[in-house]
Amino acid sequence: MMENMNKRILALIILLQILRFHAEGGGLFYNFYDQSCPQAENIVRAGLESASLTDPTTPSAILRLMFHDCQVQGCDASILLDANQHSELRSSKNFGIRKTELISLIKLALEAVCPLQVSCADIIVLAAREAVAISGGPRIDVPLGRKDSYIPSSSALADSLLPPPDIGVDGMLRIFAKKGLTVEESVAILGGHTLGITHCSNIHARLYNSQGGKKDAIEPKFKNILKIICPPMSWASNISFVPNDLTPLTFDNQYFTSAIHGRGLLRVDAEMPLHSRTGPFVTKFANDRGAFFRAFSSAFVKLGSSNVLTGSRGMIRRSCNALH
Ligand code: HEM
Repeated sequence: MMENMNKRILALIILLQILRFHAEGGGLFYNFYDQSCPQAENIVRAGLESASLTDPTTPSAILRLMFHDCQVQGCDASILLDANQHSELRSSKNFGIRKTELISLIKLALEAVCPLQVSCADIIVLAAREAVAISGGPRIDVPLGRKDSYIPSSSALADSLLPPPDIGVDGMLRIFAKKGLTVEESVAILGGHTLGITHCSNIHARLYNSQGGKKDAIEPKFKNILKIICPPMSWASNISFVPNDLTPLTFDNQYFTSAIHGRGLLRVDAEMPLHSRTGPFVTKFANDRGAFFRAFSSAFVKLGSSNVLTGSRGMIRRSCNALH
């Protein structure tokens, strides 16, 4: 009798702890939508696959979209709220961000199947996970249960939190350390630059105002090619671009090999192989694709989990670009 009573009290305490965990914001859970929307992950995957068939640059755009969403007040889909010219998306640091409408389309499909269950914040993270996988990268198991922000962010906040294109290694490491990434994981997450492109406007300063410092070295022949694609003072520098590595549609470790050979496009890409803290990891990842994939996967989960809204904090929007 006494034993039964103790068991009930214990069960009640555990239940209260679970309820408190959720009420306080709780956490993220693997298989979060197993009951509420079991089709969620398949719908996101199908959306990414069909969009990538018509535009093979979709995965790179979606991966960058996730980084930029998560970097400004956590992964909360605040980047999708585009109400006016002061919105987060309008920050100059978000220049080149694309495919926000694909997230809205996937959301539409999800609303038809399980209304008001799947957050736009989770859709962005799931879509980025698919983007990596369909480009040949690792299949990353991601915890879910993020809520969307119910307060819009601003372009001023994005200006201050998104890294500038000329950030160096030390600044980059500080940004990712705040999210709990190790130096190895920080190098790995920059490996996201194995996909996609960089517009000429983002490398003009490196090409034409460079101090020629050892830490920012560009291999001379490569620099000449870049100067042909990106001439000085060109009106076209916001539309002309260069691939981030030799295989910009494939998620592989080519980015690290290119960086070692002085073909890093941005300052941070070029500095990483030469910096004492990051250089050993650049070499490791260039030689061992599996090590890169493992470190990228754990970095991706940390990036996607830091400072998120969960439980009773935040909302699930009906449409991703509006607060309802
Ligand atoms: C210090 C950190 C970082 C800086 C300074 C940085 C900067 C940039 C810049 C300037 C571009 C070119 C954008 C354009 O011209 O359209 C770019 C592209 C890109 N970045 Fe980053 N980035 C950083 C970290 C990351 C991270 C953590 C990821 C993802 C894991 C990422 C993924 C991408 C991708 C996929 C592209 C290509 C986008 C496209 O093709 O549309 N970046 N980044």
